Amino acid sequence: MNDNSPATASDEAHSGPIKTPKQMLLAVTYSFVVPIFAIIGLVYYVTLGNKPAATEANSEQAVAARIQKIGSIEIRDVNRPLRSGEEVFNAQCTACHTAGLVGAPKLGDAAAWAPRNLTGYDALLNSALKGKNAMAAQGGGEFQDLEIGRAVVYMANSAGGKFEEPQAAAAPAEAASAPAEAASAAK
Ligand code: HEC
Repeated sequence: MNDNSPATASDEAHSGPIKTPKQMLLAVTYSFVVPIFAIIGLVYYVTLGNKPAATEANSEQAVAARIQKIGSIEIRDVNRPLRSGEEVFNAQCTACHTAGLVGAPKLGDAAAWAPRNLTGYDALLNSALKGKNAMAAQGGGEFQDLEIGRAVVYMANSAGGKFEEPQAAAAPAEAASAPAEAASAAK
């Protein structure tokens, strides 16, 4: 420290308050480092203060549901190979139709299917696509109507039915919901 040493007038004029390396270090610390920590502290303070309690209504899932966009588009690859009846069944129908949930006719249960099979393929497909009593509409989802038809045939035939599996070229009941789309999808 040479604060007390005599200095000429010109020395005084050209020197600031920082005279030693230690003062320099302190000045740097206070002017750069400390503000940064202060800012970090403020950010913490502000974000913590705004955080609502983690209640059920504010769970991540609930928030995501609330701020989701209205309407959504589903991109389906119309050129993917059509699924077989069994594949569709295992993906979408088995939940109810294997165990016979909520009164669903079981796979392979001839007694349950016989009277239904008598109503004909079109009627069965129609029920599957549009829904019937406890069964919600099965059409319009991941699978094309034709594929739902195959699942219907898979189930009906597992229980004594003699329906032919619908083929892409001659999709019989495609007209039921979306003729144009089905026609192009069938190609
Ligand atoms: C949520 C459970 C559930 C799912 C999933 C489900 N079904 Fe069903 N399904 C039922 C029930 C219940 C019935 C009996 C409806 C009735 O006759 O009251 C039924 C009946 C049917 C029938 C007979 C309709 C008639 O006219 O008698 C067909 C065909 C059928 N389902 C096909 C399907 C196909 C194909 C799928 C999958 C793509 C499927 N179901 C998925 C519950 C379901």
